Amino acid sequence: MNKPVLDLELISVTKRYGPTVAVDAISHHFKPSSYTCLLGPSGCGKSSTLRMIAGHESISEGSILLAGRDISRLPPAKRGTAMMFQSYALFPHLSVVDNVAFSLKMKGVDLKERRTKAGEMLELVDLSVLSDRLPDQLSGGQQQRVALARALITRPQALLLDEPLSALDPFLRVRMRTELKRLQKELGISFVHVTHGQDEALALADEIVVMNNAVIEQAGPAREVFKAPKTSFVAQFIGGHNVIALPEGRYSIRTDEVAVTTAEKGTLSANVMAVEYQGTHVSIMAKIAGDQEVTALVAEGDFFEHPQNPGDQIGLTWDKNNLHKLTA
Ligand SMILES: Nc1ncnc2c1ncn2[C@@H]1O[C@H](COP(=O)(O)OP(=O)(O)OP(=O)(O)O)[C@@H](O)[C@H]1O
Ligand SMILES: [Mg+2]
Repeated sequence: MNKPVLDLELISVTKRYGPTVAVDAISHHFKPSSYTCLLGPSGCGKSSTLRMIAGHESISEGSILLAGRDISRLPPAKRGTAMMFQSYALFPHLSVVDNVAFSLKMKGVDLKERRTKAGEMLELVDLSVLSDRLPDQLSGGQQQRVALARALITRPQALLLDEPLSALDPFLRVRMRTELKRLQKELGISFVHVTHGQDEALALADEIVVMNNAVIEQAGPAREVFKAPKTSFVAQFIGGHNVIALPEGRYSIRTDEVAVTTAEKGTLSANVMAVEYQGTHVSIMAKIAGDQEVTALVAEGDFFEHPQNPGDQIGLTWDKNNLHKLTA
């Protein structure tokens, strides 16, 4: 049976560092030509997973297939993957174009062809005009694009990005996000992007793989993971959800699906703990019976019609259909 090209598949992949199990028998089929974000808290095994795919770390157990080929034991350059690290690690003494062309030089490609190909890559990331500069003459965002061009020049089937935006300021981060997404669509290859930013994952990913404690806790289309988190960990980590223990079990409900009303009208009475202005919305954190915290996200216009303050007694309501039962 022919597998579709560019499929990336992890089969029961484990990584041990001595006694530490950093990645515990994870299996995942990355959708071909899609943008996947590996999301999870610090230390959950994201970078280890990525480094095993790239070949920068050996696999303790299991195997990795790319386009149907077992790449588990191949050296990094033979895998058809390219990795972009968090610190872009550009060569400080080489010009932009020579940084981009570096891997071709290592392969013995002649100067003319190197320059041509590097030029194409620089065009792709919109940096042609800066090709003769040195890295320290570039902004953070520009350096990041050089690093991208340098990774892409090897024509990988999968591009692996480890927290590629974390060094950028918030404004640039959002701009580069758009750029990455555009590039992925344009090139049609798989991007696997590690992040611990929920908003980054939601903005970029076709698919989100949520990791926790060395395992995959949930994987699926970004919207599905957000709309229907399966566990309390995922509900809390993805953000925008409350986890509530009711007599019959644990549930999640989105913060924007909790409505605030007067103490008389609410289904539950609550005490306002904190009010946070967020521009378009106001977040009201309140405590209900059993000392449980519930956050309601209210449109700012609605809030200022009936403003609340810490210490106020309020009522909360929600549509029961919006409660989602959690499995753990
Ligand atoms: N070279 C190593 N030797 C020993 N333990 C390691 C090594 N690299 C990682 N670990 C451990 O493996 C676990 C997973 O690390 P990993 O770097 O994959 O996490 P991560 O999800 O990328 O975290 P972060 O978000 O902080 O980058 C951690 O407990 C870490 O301490
Ligand atoms: Mg990491």
